[in-house]
Amino acid sequence: MRTPQIHPKIFAERRARLAPLISNSALILPSHPEMIRNHDVHHPYRQDTNLYYLTGFEEPESILVFRPGKKPETVMFVRVRDVERETWDGFRYGPEGVVRQFGIEAAYPISEFENMTSDLLLDVDKVYYTLFKDHECDERMARTLLSTKSKRRRSGRGILPIYDSYPLIGEMRVRKTDYEIEVLRKAGHVSGKAHEAVMRATRPGLNERYLQGVFIKEIMSMGASREGYGTIVAAGPAATTLHYVFNDQPLNAGELLLIDAGAEVDYYTGDITRTYPISGKFTDVQARLYGRVLELQKHLINMVKPGLRYLDLQETTVEGLIEIMIAEKLLKGSKDEIKSSGSYKKYYPHGVSHLLGSDVHDAGLVEVNGQSRPLESGMCLTIEPGIYIPSDDTSAPEELRGIGIRIEDDVLVTVDGHEVLTSAAPKEINDLEAIIGKN
Ligand code: GLY
Ligand code: MN
Ligand code: MN
Repeated sequence: MRTPQIHPKIFAERRARLAPLISNSALILPSHPEMIRNHDVHHPYRQDTNLYYLTGFEEPESILVFRPGKKPETVMFVRVRDVERETWDGFRYGPEGVVRQFGIEAAYPISEFENMTSDLLLDVDKVYYTLFKDHECDERMARTLLSTKSKRRRSGRGILPIYDSYPLIGEMRVRKTDYEIEVLRKAGHVSGKAHEAVMRATRPGLNERYLQGVFIKEIMSMGASREGYGTIVAAGPAATTLHYVFNDQPLNAGELLLIDAGAEVDYYTGDITRTYPISGKFTDVQARLYGRVLELQKHLINMVKPGLRYLDLQETTVEGLIEIMIAEKLLKGSKDEIKSSGSYKKYYPHGVSHLLGSDVHDAGLVEVNGQSRPLESGMCLTIEPGIYIPSDDTSAPEELRGIGIRIEDDVLVTVDGHEVLTSAAPKEINDLEAIIGKN
């Protein structure tokens, strides 16, 4: 027997907030497809974020049908209980358990989905469903809609129109509730403490993946479920590859280490990057460049408050980094020329921020009607300026080649400013030098 990790009322409140936005409609949310490799090897499963967001249910092969104002309002289709399968794969709630423990009004075997859902759709005007995420599920949906149409006979009503559910729920997820803020605070804190432990474990001669192991051990011992995204542990020039995935090289004395890693706690993730010297002491050149990026990053964080637009953050970042590039003799010319030509992108190709929540690049729009969206209290975002100088860039001063620096924190927008959620991860030069390699 299991009990849900989070109280069902959290999810019922979310459905209640969604209900008025989709009257006379049905929302159909399927689970994330299960990944099975070589026929029988199961991989750790994570539920589709939106299905989890509205139900708290974590099993694969499940579908929610939500029809606000109808009876029953919440219906789920799930795997049936099966003694033999449960011996292999673990506990299943089954339809009875879903009704009893998740506050869902009615639940049936997943095999009943098409037949029963085509009836449940008889008295709605439209369907919210996201196409093209799961081909098999799309085919089921098509058959279900066709079946609803034929059950309606000659009523003059055709196939129900489909609206994308992703932006609808995404908008709900943009401004975090008090509950979500609490969990994000924990995810930020756990991520930050684990970064500190990794700093203490860092020393020349280790392999990048040893440090990834330290990060995982720390976050899981503090209650995280998993990493929030693919951890990047990039030593030396690997730090100039933005999505470095290998994490399998040795740590060399004298080089910098860039680590981008976050803990997922109860389906909310932290997202932190730190860059620091493997041997514990910044060289003069490293300290100069790092100090400049750090100053800019702190300035950007201090700008965060309601009303600030995403675009303003990006513009300030680009201007600040161009000033650094000119001062470091990476680029020649005036700030305006460099900005308008876009030549700075050679050393800074990404955005400075993204929304953060249940997904590391969280749902929700940062542009509305073609305009950059102003921040509102309850939003959570990253601030992550960086500079990356390829090791084979002969136009760059030799002392800078192969250096990649990014500093990333998670910031909550509050009513009158902001709160940094990841301050447990040191980033000042003195603080870093005091702990690297000291465990
Ligand atoms: N770790 C992913 C990102 O920083 O966007
Ligand atoms: Mn990020
Ligand atoms: Mn990151």
